[in-house]
Order: sequence, then C-alpha cells, then structure tokens
Amino acid sequence: MNKITIAIDGFSSTGKSTLAKQLAEKLGYVYVDTGAMYRAVTLYAMQNGFIVNGDINKVGLTKHLDKIQLKFVFNPKLGFAEMFLNDENVERQIRTLEVSKNVSQIAEIKEVRTQLVSLQQDMGKSKGVVMDGRDIGTVVFPDAELKIFMTASPEKRAVRRYKELLDKGEDVVYDDILENVQKRDYIDSHRKNSPLKKAEGAIEFDNSDMGLVQQFERIYEHALRVI
Ligand code: C5P
Repeated sequence: MNKITIAIDGFSSTGKSTLAKQLAEKLGYVYVDTGAMYRAVTLYAMQNGFIVNGDINKVGLTKHLDKIQLKFVFNPKLGFAEMFLNDENVERQIRTLEVSKNVSQIAEIKEVRTQLVSLQQDMGKSKGVVMDGRDIGTVVFPDAELKIFMTASPEKRAVRRYKELLDKGEDVVYDDILENVQKRDYIDSHRKNSPLKKAEGAIEFDNSDMGLVQQFERIYEHALRVI
C-alpha cells in the first residue's frame, strides 16, 4: 500500500483529533495533533510571564522561542502520543479552558507559526501521517493526497467540549465554552498568518448530526480510494 499524507483541518472541537487518531491507528500511520503544539507554547508563555491577564508580550515570547522544546512521546497504555514541553508531560495542563482562552492569540504570532510549521513538516516528511490542525492542507502539506475540512454547528461543538472538560473534572460553565469556541473560530479564520480556511481540493465534512462510527467509515472510505 502507498503511504500518503492525510491533512484534517477544521473549526475547534469538531472531533478532528478523535477521527485522526482512529484513522492513524487503522492505517498504521503516525498521528500528529498540531493543536497540542500551539497549546504547549501557550502554556510556556503563561508559566513564564508572557501572558498576564490576557495581555501577551509577543516580543518577549518571540525572543524565548528557542528555549521551548516540544516532543510527542507515545504512551502505549493510552494508545496515543502525549505532549512534552521541555521534558515535562503537559498533556493535561494544555487541555484546560485557561489555555484555550489564550491559544488563538499565540497562534497568530508569525514567528511561532514558522517554528511549529517547520517541526510539523519534518514530522510528516516520510508520509504515513495523519495530521490535524487549522493550516495543514493549506500551508504545512498543501500537496497532501487527502484533505478533509471538518465543520459542525458551534452549539454542537461546545456541548462536546463541555462534556469532555466535565469528564476531566474541570469546573466549567457551558456558556463560557460556547463563547471560547466562537472566539477561537473568529480569530483562527480572520488572522493574517495562515487563516483557517478550506484547502483547495479538501472534502468538506459536516458532522453536526453524525455519530463517531459513521464519521469514521466515511473518512476511511475516502482514504482507501486514495491509497
Ligand atoms: O486543535 P486545537 O483546538 O487543540 O487547537 C488549539 C488552537 O491552536 C486553535 O484554536 C488555533 O488557534 C491553534 N492552531 C493553529 N494551527 C494549527 C493547529 C492549532 O493555529 N495547525
């Protein structure tokens, strides 16, 4: 079988990572969650005083980018890779609402994107990769053999994220999550650098009213056609 690159982009909480993980497992591919990388840089900025009460010291952070080391380490018990920031497992910390509230402003910074895109291109250079994010089909791998663009209504997405955070024991309010989802969508799709948009040739996939099994079957069919 041919090894290909699969790019999955879309709005926040559309279930991209669940689907990407399943697809990678089924195909024996590597899965790369690029959102985790932007989240880890955001966590670093929060921990090191570059974000105070929502104000971001972009110049300060940019000068410290070479001090940020990111690594994915596969956890066989969980069946997926966890994010390490400067050798510390930050998988839990990067998924909090606090990080979600700041991440899109960090992801707007050109120097941050340049650094992360280059790492991502390196991770996927041997193909056999499923990568999810916002600019994978447009910027990171514009030549990906299969591109998916996922959407769902903001309310459905907020409910999913709300349940996820409650399950993890976070004390969250639904309206805050909906506001965060909408705000991130807006910033991500209106920013100057690599805005979120459907890549040329991408298959649009609205999963508002679709279960996980049905979603997986549809995408897997598309993958088999290309492979
Ligand atoms: O995918 P996830 O929701 O974890 O991504 C968090 C944020 O990281 C997004 O809202 C977006 O601002 C940023 N991001 C990005 N480009 C990517 C992946 C994520 O700008 N390829």
